[in-house]
Amino acid sequence: MPEIVAHGRKPDVRACSLCHYPNGKGRPENAPVAGLPYTYFVQTMANFKNGARKSADGRKANTNAMAGFAKAMTDEEIKAAAQYFSTMKWTSWIKVVETDTVPKTRIAGGMFLALDGAEREPLGDRIIEVPVNTEGTEMLRDARSGFIAYAPVGSIKKGEALVTNGAGKTTACAICHGPDLQGLGLVPGIAGRSPSYLGRQLYDMQHGSRTGDWVMLMKPVVANLSNQDIVAIVAYLASREVAPASSSSSTAADPLVATGKARFNAYKCYDCHGANGEGTDDAPNLTGTHLDAAGIAKFLQKPSADAQAKGMPDVPASSPDLQPLVAYVLSLKTAAK
Ligand code: HEC
Ligand code: HEC
Ligand code: HEC
Repeated sequence: MPEIVAHGRKPDVRACSLCHYPNGKGRPENAPVAGLPYTYFVQTMANFKNGARKSADGRKANTNAMAGFAKAMTDEEIKAAAQYFSTMKWTSWIKVVETDTVPKTRIAGGMFLALDGAEREPLGDRIIEVPVNTEGTEMLRDARSGFIAYAPVGSIKKGEALVTNGAGKTTACAICHGPDLQGLGLVPGIAGRSPSYLGRQLYDMQHGSRTGDWVMLMKPVVANLSNQDIVAIVAYLASREVAPASSSSSTAADPLVATGKARFNAYKCYDCHGANGEGTDDAPNLTGTHLDAAGIAKFLQKPSADAQAKGMPDVPASSPDLQPLVAYVLSLKTAAK
């Protein structure tokens, strides 16, 4: 894990992992950052830096803090964080439940927590997103404990119509966000992500507090949406299952994987691991690796003593080769399954 993600840099940058978690899942009051395209990540950090990206609610202290971190970060630090989070696969961890009433909640640090006891209140036109396990999330900051999003009855179906064909009010999202809404090229994935986060973004873009070159593409998309439309859209998006294997970025057709294969050859990784990562007497079969994206990235930055002794090169976090190499190794593993 890059230093900036693990510890930040005193006094101006706090550890990214504190709010976004080491696995990039994030929480409703901040943002899910795992699996965002590298180029998008760097671009949106630049927008935070130059003031193009703010919250429509100037009192949202953590978004202001986020902009402050971006301003204080060097290009190298931004690249290292982007590389780290973009090599991870996004997977769903939110369950959407349609209902008329919700457990009573309290707000802690910008996040709703269900109160103990059986008391409920009307949901109305809101989405209320709470941790499945209050203690796990709030006290232990457990990065594997997911969320439940309560949404108005009928919102998933209404959202599906808006997302898939625009329902006469907007543009079908898949054109730009990819057929499975998991991102396409530099456009970020929106499936299976926090509805609170997604809703704020649509609102901020609509109200002109989130701008920037590429946000221009979203302007006409949000122009005619009502608040109820936004609730329906994000309920549908959050309900989309994103399974690890269905993610498109580790298929052989992926340009990142193709670049990774080229880098694999340029670094002569094949000398030890074989032409297709199948392994040799000198080094293990990469198709069978137990490492995940973060683990591979970590290994490449700092190979084990054994690998170093045998001559395995290291690929620093700041190298543009790191992300493609990780994607390639991961694709070997996925293809082998
Ligand atoms: C104090 C909590 C906090 C910390 C620490 C933090 N962030 Fe954030 N981050 C946020 C919030 C809040 C948002 C924006 C949420 C919103 O717009 O509603 C955000 C948004 C982002 C986004 C935009 C995600 C997207 O999908 O567009 C990126 C990228 C990001 N942060 C990267 C980082 C990096 C890199 C670090 C470490 C240097 C970091 N953050 C540290 C709170 C934090
Ligand atoms: C014409 C292309 C295009 C279409 C159509 C489109 N988007 Fe986008 N969308 C983008 C781009 C480009 C961005 C990245 C903007 C930036 O750089 O900040 C984006 C960003 C977003 C974000 C912010 C993601 C994040 O991580 O912060 C959300 C949410 C979103 N779009 C939702 C939608 C929904 C919902 C639809 C369909 C109703 C849709 N988009 C249709 C191009 C499009
Ligand atoms: C000079 C030989 C050599 C070269 C060249 C080499 N490696 Fe390795 N690599 C090794 C050895 C040896 C290990 C096993 C070390 C161990 O088990 O501790 C290893 C382990 C790995 C692992 C961890 C596998 C696991 O499951 O633990 C990955 C990933 C990896 N290499 C990727 C690469 C990539 C990508 C390149 C090219 C940039 C590369 N290697 C170049 C020798 C090499």
